[in-house]
Amino acid sequence: MAVKINDSEKQFHLYNSKLSYVIGEGPDGGIEQLYFGKRINENQILKGYQTRCGRPLCCPANEEETYSKELGLREYPSFGTGDFRGAAYEICQENGSRVTELVFKSYEVCSGKKKIPGLPASYVNNEDEATTLKLTCFDEVAKVEVVLYYTLFENYPIITRNVSFKNLGKEELKLTKALSCCIDFFDNEYDLVQFEGAWGRERYPKIRAIEKGIMQVESMRGHSSPNFNPFVIIKRKNTDEFQGEAIGINLVYSGNFLARIEAGSFGGFRFTMGINPTWFQWPLGENEEFYTPEVIITYTNDGLNDLSQNIHRFMNNQLVRSPYKNKPRPILLNNWEATEMNFDEEKILKIARKGKEAGVELFVLDDGWFGKRNNDYAGLGDWFVNTDKLPDGISGLSKKINEIGLDFGLWIEPEMVNEDSDLYRAHPDWVLAAPNRKKTLGRHQMVLDYSKPEVVDYIYDMLHKVISTASISYIKWDMNRAITECYSQNVPADRQGMVYHKYIMGVYSLYERLIQEFPNILFESCASGGGRFDAGMLYYAPQAWCSDDTDGHERVKIQYGTSYGYPISSIGAHVSASPNQQTGRTMDIDDRANIACFGTFGYELDLNEVSEEEFERVKKQIEFMKKYRGLFQYGTLYRLQSPFEKNTASWMVVSEDKSLAIVAIYRSLKTPNDELERIKLQGLTENAIYEINHKEMYYGDLLMAQGIGTMEPAENWFESDNDFTSRMFILEQHVTK
Ligand code: DGJ
Repeated sequence: MAVKINDSEKQFHLYNSKLSYVIGEGPDGGIEQLYFGKRINENQILKGYQTRCGRPLCCPANEEETYSKELGLREYPSFGTGDFRGAAYEICQENGSRVTELVFKSYEVCSGKKKIPGLPASYVNNEDEATTLKLTCFDEVAKVEVVLYYTLFENYPIITRNVSFKNLGKEELKLTKALSCCIDFFDNEYDLVQFEGAWGRERYPKIRAIEKGIMQVESMRGHSSPNFNPFVIIKRKNTDEFQGEAIGINLVYSGNFLARIEAGSFGGFRFTMGINPTWFQWPLGENEEFYTPEVIITYTNDGLNDLSQNIHRFMNNQLVRSPYKNKPRPILLNNWEATEMNFDEEKILKIARKGKEAGVELFVLDDGWFGKRNNDYAGLGDWFVNTDKLPDGISGLSKKINEIGLDFGLWIEPEMVNEDSDLYRAHPDWVLAAPNRKKTLGRHQMVLDYSKPEVVDYIYDMLHKVISTASISYIKWDMNRAITECYSQNVPADRQGMVYHKYIMGVYSLYERLIQEFPNILFESCASGGGRFDAGMLYYAPQAWCSDDTDGHERVKIQYGTSYGYPISSIGAHVSASPNQQTGRTMDIDDRANIACFGTFGYELDLNEVSEEEFERVKKQIEFMKKYRGLFQYGTLYRLQSPFEKNTASWMVVSEDKSLAIVAIYRSLKTPNDELERIKLQGLTENAIYEINHKEMYYGDLLMAQGIGTMEPAENWFESDNDFTSRMFILEQHVTK
């Protein structure tokens, strides 16, 4: 068991070979954080190690005036009793007071990990993979029990945390803030790495120095958003891809979130993360409970690549649930960029047949197959087939696609409704809308009120009919607007603060029901591309459409940034037409494929429209991907050179036994008479010989110490190419016969 408990000191030391996380009862009777970082001796007693008292003007927590809460490192700080930094939770009591104080009561240790009711969370495959520590605290006045859960995974430098609240009193309480974690850092010689952007340029990494004051990233859009991702890294200033200390925090949640850093006057800073408290208010009646989402906290002392690799392994093994877990993902052909909503059965079959000829495995019918969906003004909510376009329905089309030899996948956007739809005409009060106010539209559509179970039930029934009567093996679940006027109609005023969170719980419940009913379907989440790319979604949909921006050059940046917090197996990436629809940029079809293969891989164009010569290359690309997709999607990824820093970007994947690796180098602009450049490789066996593209042979130690020339192989390819080019190097361990 990886928890060392010292009962007399009330100290709990969670540890594995990589990390130690030590907490214990503090001088105020609450829970203090004693140490978090590289593994230390589990017998170390840390009581008093962090205890400090500032004065004057600090409000000491004990009579001896040796401890002030505002100088302490605290696990789950309360509001209003002398810790003037942001609290981890707040509870409004019937008398209007928000003051609470948690006192440690008891603990429990068990093997494995429990589910969090209604919420996505990491899990164990066997009880001995993890140990869970449960610390129960209590506020005597508000009569609220707060349980802090910690799960330490044996084979990962990872701890997960979440919190539950239970009202053990008679009065109704209002939870107005319930974050998932607080981590107090002793000093502030750190940087924050946030993943920011917007539609079409999601998850660009941005480093910000932690300085005194408050900094935060958040979403108040109702989804986790393309603007700021609910994954952040806190790293030492000198930490880079290959060395140094860093902590990654993934919130397993897809709605409004907050990640907040507060660096105060006494050194150090407080990191908190969880559901965004803005307009969150959760009533807790007698015996009622509330569970926060989970955070996955990953520690490394070996740089950002190591951090990401651990997150990748963890998500692939302990978060993703699907028959496709750890399996190569099907190579798909999606008709969206080829036809948008303008198609009929014949056109679709023609595209699918060509896909089959190229070697594609799955055809996906995107938006436009249902209701009166001929443009984006109508149809959402009417999940029955448009027989003008598809006379034999989805069932008939899916059979025909199967006869071609392809699996069939379908697009849905179940959270939305158009004003021009049968659903809205029948149930105008099923949309989120504030009384007597204009409804703000997004892409001409409104958001269904998923906080109401009857709405979720209704959509489930409609979808069930379509899915159960057709041959569907994949679903792309889209969400194309953020939430505005977040108000649930005909619901009491004091329940409105629940709506954002209940909404996302409704989304999770629909996902869960569909997964239980159709366990073999592969789900891909999407929100106008990568607007809801988060760990919560990955629990239901093991892959996510990474961005609507399919331009290869842009995709290097987007996928590179995404790889910090999410595995390659989750990154939906397709080859689309050139010139690109989002940027107008022209790029060779092999260069487009060389970036899409660092993802789930597929095509998003009509292959009937590429030249014969290009089509032959597409066939080769598919053959190549079929051979190597296991390596791309589940190999160890190393980011070698950032597209945000230089004209050339590079990354590589290495097989578990290190016998095979693929390196990709992408060059943005062509430069005449360019400087010679080498990119140092990673993760190879030092004394093994690698054959590169069946030509040159070098020892692993040389390739890692000196690198591979970007001008390799010898034909000096950079000089003969255009802008936005790429090269792929396959390294096979040479076996002497
Ligand atoms: C946005 C998605 O990101 C696209 O791939 C496509 O499915 C459209 N929506 C369809 O409306």
